[in-house]
Amino acid sequence: MSEGAAKKEEKPRKFQAIRGTRDLLPPETTLWNHVEQTAHEVFATFGFGEIRVPIFERTDLFARAVGGETDIVSKEMYTFVDRSEKLEPDPTIGSMNVFFQKVRELYKSGEIPPEDQDEIALKLAEDQWKKVDNLLSGMSKSENAGTDIYTLVLLYDALRLGTRVSLRPEATASVCRVYIEHGMQQLPQPVKLYYMGPMFRRERPQKGRYRQFYQIGAEVLGGSDAPAIDAEVIEMVMMFFDRLELQGVQLDINSIGCRECRPKYVELLRAELLKVKDQLGPDSQRRIETNPLRVLDSKLESEQGIIAKLPRIADHLCEDCATHYSAVKHQLEMRGVIYRENWRLVRGLDYYMRTTFEITAQGLGSQNAVCGGGRYDGLVELLGGPPTKGIGFAIGEDRLILSLQESGKAPAQQGRDVYIAWMGERAHATAIRAAKDLRKAGFSVELPPVEQKFGKALGQADKLGAKYALILGDNEVSEGLWTLKTLADGSQAKYTEPDLLEHLRKQKALKL
Ligand code: HAM
Repeated sequence: MSEGAAKKEEKPRKFQAIRGTRDLLPPETTLWNHVEQTAHEVFATFGFGEIRVPIFERTDLFARAVGGETDIVSKEMYTFVDRSEKLEPDPTIGSMNVFFQKVRELYKSGEIPPEDQDEIALKLAEDQWKKVDNLLSGMSKSENAGTDIYTLVLLYDALRLGTRVSLRPEATASVCRVYIEHGMQQLPQPVKLYYMGPMFRRERPQKGRYRQFYQIGAEVLGGSDAPAIDAEVIEMVMMFFDRLELQGVQLDINSIGCRECRPKYVELLRAELLKVKDQLGPDSQRRIETNPLRVLDSKLESEQGIIAKLPRIADHLCEDCATHYSAVKHQLEMRGVIYRENWRLVRGLDYYMRTTFEITAQGLGSQNAVCGGGRYDGLVELLGGPPTKGIGFAIGEDRLILSLQESGKAPAQQGRDVYIAWMGERAHATAIRAAKDLRKAGFSVELPPVEQKFGKALGQADKLGAKYALILGDNEVSEGLWTLKTLADGSQAKYTEPDLLEHLRKQKALKL
């Protein structure tokens, strides 16, 4: 290897954020905090309490709730096996038998929740182990001992030695688990909860679509499916967007029926789609079998004319669903919430029934949904809880922020209030005390750690966007009169310590 090549190799690797993840930096984080603070305030006025749930849960919780066939569960989850501590450390050659026995026991007791392929994988590994054991003890011979041992290693690696867990792709499933686990049906109903935090989906990243993204969501769980609940949840999210002055907000609503009427509609849709199958693209052709409703979601230009002629679910709702849907619309009108009916609005998660809605905003390109939600009666029951009604939404916070930024709502760089320019040891001590007092009073203060010439200090104060420079030199300290320079106009005045604080307080109150 040449010397040059060796040097190149030595160079430390440059780390970068993983594809689809982002670093959120100041000053943008100020806007994130503002959005989140507004959510806390608005949601509290509707009586919602904050809930914080784990970032990962058992994979089968999401599979059961969101649906095993959905894109989210079948393709996009970050899943790993959380190995049982009882199976640590790795077995030695001599303890393989005992190890297999232990794995079997853990599957049986449910401590490692059993899955379909486990039995086969365990049997294959055990058989291979017997073969290798015979080889090693000299009871049999093989031309390919190396291959036999390597096969055993591969089969061992394929064993599932713990519970499968996934990074949460959404939080509705977790909130329902919490409702059951904490016996929340005993609380006054409905229970109104909201959450905010990162979610993970292994999607193809693009503007507004990330693999780690943030949601602000809310859920209402309880015994009632009164249409006023649907309308109030929607009113709340619209009020939140209004407070943030989000531009170009468009609310689309639909009803996708219930267990009674939807299957009949889906069959009708499938039959109609089969008639025009040849004119559809490969994705939609596949969906005729797997999930015909998702064909309505298609953005393919060539399919739009065909989709427009398909039967609409609103014409096929059962009486209860139709009544519920028209009451939701009436309730929205009573609240002055402007909506558009969109019969093609089907959502990509299996748990929805009746009311579904989506909100779009401006400046987002193709990923323009800032909020999605709907009713999911029966989900709690599906997860092993009591019969419960539910409705909620989740806002894509990344997209919300993008839209706010596009419409000029970016926060100004957060400058310091006061930069303390000090020179000399005595002045340093005074500067430290002044910084403490000013910070206690709520001012943002920059206190340089080492002495600087005044000229340099003022330049630095300017760069940091400070409003004032507090100048502390020998003179100021011995006189007890501190010089305050207003950086915008260069004016200067002297104050005693208490007067200075008073002056700054007044200026702040006047927002100067
Ligand atoms: P969702 O429609 O899958 O619903 O997600 C809600 C919102 O999260 C989307 O409208 C979008 O703004 C944002 N979002 C989703 N995926 C990404 C991504 N990869 N990058 C950036 N933003 C994204 C749910 O998650 C349901 N749990 C909502 C719900 C709550 N329904 C009832 N309760």
